[in-house]
Formats: sequence, C-alpha cells, structure tokens
Amino acid sequence: MIKFILNRQKIETVLPSGTTVLDFVRYHRHLSGTKIGCREGDCGACTVIVGSLENGNLQYKTMTSCLMPLSNANGKHIVTVEGINMENLSPVQYVMIENNGTQCGFCTVGFVMSLTAFVLSENLNYNSAISSIDGNICRCTGYKSIERAAKDLVLKLEGKPVQNRLIWLIENKFIPGYFLEIEGKLNDLKGKQKTIQPFDIQKVVLGGGTDLFVQKPEKMRKEKLTNFYDHPNLNQIETKDGKCFIGASMTASDLRNSEVIRAIFPEINSYIKLIASTPIRNMATIAGNFTNASPIGDMTIFFLALDAEIILNQKRENRSIKLRDFYFDYKKMDKASDEFIESIVFEIPDKKAFFNFEKVSKRTHLDIASVNSACLMEIENEVIQKIHLSAGGVGPIPKYLNKTCTFLKGKKTETTIIKEAIEIMQNEISPISDARGSADYKKLLLRQLFIAHLLKFFPQLLTPQRIATL
Ligand SMILES: Cc1cc2nc3c(=O)[nH]c(=O)nc-3n(C[C@H](O)[C@H](O)[C@H](O)COP(=O)(O)OP(=O)(O)OC[C@H]3O[C@@H](n4cnc5c(N)ncnc54)[C@H](O)[C@@H]3O)c2cc1C
Ligand code: FES
Ligand code: FES
Repeated sequence: MIKFILNRQKIETVLPSGTTVLDFVRYHRHLSGTKIGCREGDCGACTVIVGSLENGNLQYKTMTSCLMPLSNANGKHIVTVEGINMENLSPVQYVMIENNGTQCGFCTVGFVMSLTAFVLSENLNYNSAISSIDGNICRCTGYKSIERAAKDLVLKLEGKPVQNRLIWLIENKFIPGYFLEIEGKLNDLKGKQKTIQPFDIQKVVLGGGTDLFVQKPEKMRKEKLTNFYDHPNLNQIETKDGKCFIGASMTASDLRNSEVIRAIFPEINSYIKLIASTPIRNMATIAGNFTNASPIGDMTIFFLALDAEIILNQKRENRSIKLRDFYFDYKKMDKASDEFIESIVFEIPDKKAFFNFEKVSKRTHLDIASVNSACLMEIENEVIQKIHLSAGGVGPIPKYLNKTCTFLKGKKTETTIIKEAIEIMQNEISPISDARGSADYKKLLLRQLFIAHLLKFFPQLLTPQRIATL
C-alpha cells in the first residue's frame, strides 16, 4: 500500500505503483487544476510541490507529476494548486494577475506552483525566483509579465523571518494553515513504513523516473517497481581517506546543495544549472543518468572526468568498475539485469587541480547537449601530471578520451602540444550527424570545448593570438 498526504488529506492506495501522480490527482481525485501538457517533463504545466523529511526537516521542492510515479510519492506531502487555494487568491496568484502574467492560463498553475515552492525555499532573491520557473514554458505571454510578477513577489517577501517561516507564510496567506501539521503527519507515516531492502529487486529499478516515464510510460504503469529514489542506503554523500562516496540515488539537485560537493567543486552550481530544469533536477538521479547510458548524459560526463568508479551490487555481493569501462556500445553496459548501482566513488582532486564542465545545447536551458565535456588537470612545474578528459555526443557511448589523456600526460601546455592533442582527440571520436548538429560541427564543438577548459585553467597563457594558431 502506498501512503502519502495529498494537500490536507491522507491517501492510502493500492493502485499500481507506476500510476503517475498526474493521473492520480486528475482522474482518481478529480483535482483538475494540475494540467496535462507534454507528459515528458518539458512544459511544467503539471508541476506539483513535493514535501519530504530530509534529515528530520521538512523540505519542499517542485517535481513534474507526469513523470512521478505513486511509488515515489510514498511518505511525502504532495501539494497541488487546490492545496494552496484558500478563500482568496494567494499573493503568488495575485502578482501573476496584477502583472498580466496569465493569458490563456494553461501554463499558469505550473508557474504558480513553482513560485510557491520558491516562497517556501530559503534564497528569496530575484535570481532564485527566476530559476524556480526554469522548468515552466509559456506560449502566450513572452515571459516579461511573469518576470515582473516574480519581481513583485520578491518585494512582498521582504522582511520574512528566517525562523518560524511557515507561520509567517500562513499569516500572510501564501499557504494555508494545515501546512503546520504536515511535519508531524509525515513523521507518523515514516514510523509505520517498512524500509525496502535494495536487494529485493522486482523487475524494474526506479530512480526519479525522468527517463523511464518518458521512454515507456504505458509499460511503467503495469510494471512492478523497485523504488531506489528514497532509499536511505543510496542517499548519502561522505568523504573518507581522500575519497568521496556518493549514494547512487543522489539527484542533480542533491549534488548542487551538498556542502561536501560544494567544497570540492566551488563552481558546482554553474555546472548543475546546465542540466535540465529545477523540477527534473529534483528527480534525476546519478545512477539513472549512468544506466540510461545516453552518450550525452551530463552527470556521466562529469564523473568520467573524475575517473570515478561505480560500486555495483548483485545479490548482496559488491564489485567495482571504472565508469570509463562500464559502456561497451550504444546503450550497452557491463551490468547484469539483477545488478544495481549502489554508489559512485572518486578520488578528491588536489586543491591545486583544475576542473571544468562545459555543455553546448540548442537552448541554454532545459535541453540536452549537442556536445558536452569535462576535464580534470593537475600541473606541476608546467608539466601535466594528471589529466582526465571526457566528451559526450561524439560517439555511441559517453567517451573517456583515453588516447588524448595518454598523450597529454607528462607534457607541457605548449601550443604545439595542444595542437597535437586536438588532432588526436579529433581522431578518437566518431560523432554522427543528427538533429543536434552535423558530425563536422560536433567535432568542431569538442575542439572549442577543450579550448574553453584550457581558457578557464590558464586564462593568462591562452591569448587570442595563441588561440588563433590552434
Ligand atoms: C525534460 C527533461 C530534461 C532532461 N535534461 C537532461 C539534461 O539536460 N542532461 C541529462 O544528462 N539528462 C537529462 N534528462 C534525462 C534524465 O533526467 C537523466 O538521465 C536522469 O539522471 C535520469 O535519472 P532518473 O533517476 O530519473 O532515472 P530513471 O528514469 O528512474 O531510470 C533510468 C534508468 O536507470 C535505471 N536505474 C535507476 N537507478 C538505478 C540504480 N541505482 N542501479 C541500476 N539502475 C538504475 C532504471 O532502471 C532505468 O533503466 C532530462 C530528462 C527530462 C525528462
Ligand atoms: S505535462 Fe509537461 S511537464 Fe508534465
Ligand atoms: S498563458 Fe497561455 S501558455 Fe502561458
């Protein structure tokens, strides 16, 4: 039985765990405020707010209900627009109307839910308000009126206290009073739930569902799912003996919010912002990215450049494999059907090491890459002591550029060497022409991304004149 709280009501259901939250709220609860747009996580019309207990604290974030199965709602608070509506418009709804932020209205509920989740968050500045709606598409307004609404909203939040923030939001009619009871109710649900052992794999292993529910939504409705998204054993980040261990079900947002990860990669925020949108990042797990095996998986490319290892578990037996050895052909990998990824491990780069992630896509936000690349480099006395370089979109698998790395190790970063490395790199890849660009364009992109890494690492060395000779 799946148990969760929908708005103010406790739900217990034996519906198939692969039923989406979107279908559940609309067709089983007749809450038709949540809209159906693309059903692929792209438009944001179906956005709901999801509350869960994280380290004992109630945290709210947005998710696209079209890709969220009921099994991932288990033990959580799901808020639809009906759950924030009181007798009058909430201040979020009010600023949208005041600024003409709504025309046909189809997207409006999604925007209202994203902005309400922003109100429940900690960073209440204008940039965060705009980021909160990066997963919502509007075909009518041209966005300017929605941006003005976001600006007004930030003004209304001035003076909101850090302590007792729920009480302030309730007093100021942003959310209804029942929100105060939710933490206790979720604790109650948690106490009664049995922890699923990750070894009990029943058919399909499920992370956040952002690939599975796009690729085979009909099939997922009928499948028995093993929910790894919330599994406590797969949701930690820790460091030990110079290594960083990340649970397989940590999401892109978890990486961005982790103090540990931020200490290792001060620019993690800007890298993660390039991946999907806020609601998708809140659902997308690292293991899901690895196992989807897309040649352009952003997190896969990121971890390849750390020369990470993955720890796999089969019937309680562990084995580890380098991520660079995991893939052997398009969507084919070294993993048995009853094997799952438990964690990801990498050596923490030296403080003096350089690391960078770059991505080029047709749209800046909410788009997959044409080509992406990451690079880790350690230099001593002008000589490259360590280099790991990865690239996506340049072949059938996420590529670790082994030949280029082998060539560069032990060399100086001189123009002739960089030129030679680019030539080796170009021969090491085999991109195909598709909707994301021609093979030649992708080759050119990788060359440019490699130069972009070097520019980040040695801005003083790579003058425009020197770049022109490469
Ligand atoms: C709108 C949208 C935008 C997107 N944008 C991007 C983007 O910019 N960059 C990008 O890289 N991706 C993007 N994606 C793809 C997707 O979000 C990522 O690949 C994500 O990391 C998948 O993780 P998940 O947990 O949702 O996977 P799921 O769909 O839950 O699972 C994917 C696969 O992984 C398997 N799996 C999950 N966990 C485990 C485990 N622990 N062990 C073994 N197998 C496991 C599942 O069985 C399944 O085969 C986007 C998706 C959508 C819908
Ligand atoms: S319906 Fe478009 S994101 Fe869910
Ligand atoms: S108001 Fe029509 S899609 Fe946004």
